[in-house]
Amino acid sequence: MLSEKSVRNKIVNQDIQNYINVNLNSDLHALLLKKSPFPDVSMQEIVQQIKGKQTAQKKFPFLLKDGIIFPPQLNLEQASSETTALYKSKILKGNRFVDLTSGFGIDAYYLSRNFNEVTLVEQNHELLDIVEHNWGILGREASFVNQNLEDFLSTNKEYFDVVYLDPARRDQNKNKVFLLEDLSPDILQIKDILLATADQVIIKLSPLIDLKYLISVLPGVFRIEIIAVKNDVKEAVVFLSNEKRDGITVNCINLESEESDFSFVFGEEEKVQAVYSEPEKFIYIPNNSILKAGVFNLISERFNLKKLHPNTHLYTSAQKADGFPGRVLEMEVVESKQIKKKGQFNIISKNYPLKPDDIKKKYGIKDGGDRYLIFTQSKKGKIILKSV
Ligand SMILES: C[S@@+](CC[C@H](N)C(=O)[O-])C[C@H]1O[C@@H](n2cnc3c(N)ncnc32)[C@H](O)[C@@H]1O
Repeated sequence: MLSEKSVRNKIVNQDIQNYINVNLNSDLHALLLKKSPFPDVSMQEIVQQIKGKQTAQKKFPFLLKDGIIFPPQLNLEQASSETTALYKSKILKGNRFVDLTSGFGIDAYYLSRNFNEVTLVEQNHELLDIVEHNWGILGREASFVNQNLEDFLSTNKEYFDVVYLDPARRDQNKNKVFLLEDLSPDILQIKDILLATADQVIIKLSPLIDLKYLISVLPGVFRIEIIAVKNDVKEAVVFLSNEKRDGITVNCINLESEESDFSFVFGEEEKVQAVYSEPEKFIYIPNNSILKAGVFNLISERFNLKKLHPNTHLYTSAQKADGFPGRVLEMEVVESKQIKKKGQFNIISKNYPLKPDDIKKKYGIKDGGDRYLIFTQSKKGKIILKSV
């Protein structure tokens, strides 16, 4: 059997690369049943490269280059996207950077670009080998350390400006449990040594993590980035430091969207109260990064908006507020009999007993178009709002 390295050398061969490119849109199940046309490379290995290129087209187009090698699917899934990595890179610079959970190295590639010395630590030998090969193609230098990060930290004598970690979920079945001790590495076990190793420790976490819990168990948190792409919250990134700083800044970011970002200091939400009202001319739907941050009263106060109901995170005003981090729609309250059968609307159901699919069936409405119907509750009870 050939070593991984020699398979890799074969894969970059032009004939095999041409075969991969020609089959980019082929049925991969059917392809797997065929015999490989190349004696030294199996069909599984070819399909792995095709899947890699397909993923790269959407998730990391900067890797669509001749000679780039792709790892197995799990490593592609675990990798950050180019979009979020690029965003994180813009807020970082310094001399020494280390990524302790390099994985496929997408975060490392972007985050380290404004640093002079870069170290990548990864326990998976095959994966790190692929990353080293790819960084060669991309013309980027780094020290590639194939070690368990706990061992690396216990012998490391260097001090870094930034230590970055993107822990893997230890158990795929536990993906509803987002406690730090369920991650690999267990951040709680290594938090002190991390803080002794760098000026800043930056950890990417699942967006499902509870922010209050995070702040209560991690020392030195001074910044949190909640990063959504097209209103889909992808990451909660937490920044720690030994340096004493005032307050924890939380930034709610919605990439690939025209909507404004929103920043606040952790704890502000508890100091303000929402004002309630029945719907006025404009209805505001906060984006998902705001909902994740849980600043339901704060956005009411900041934008001078009234909330429809304590459990309805929709807001209203008579005058249009600028810079709201979400959608703003001009709407009116309608009776259910005013809803035309066979109409076309985007249906939103919030704090309402029926789900959008039930509503579609009940009213015979088609989904889509540029008008909205919102089924919700104000303090007076159930209401329906329609775009004017
Ligand atoms: C979610 S992936 C990182 C993805 C990466 N940020 C990217 O953008 O490609 C996590 C990686 O951490 C590695 N890892 C987990 N625990 C580790 C440990 N204790 N020491 C070294 N690497 C570890 C896993 O092998 C995995 O490749």
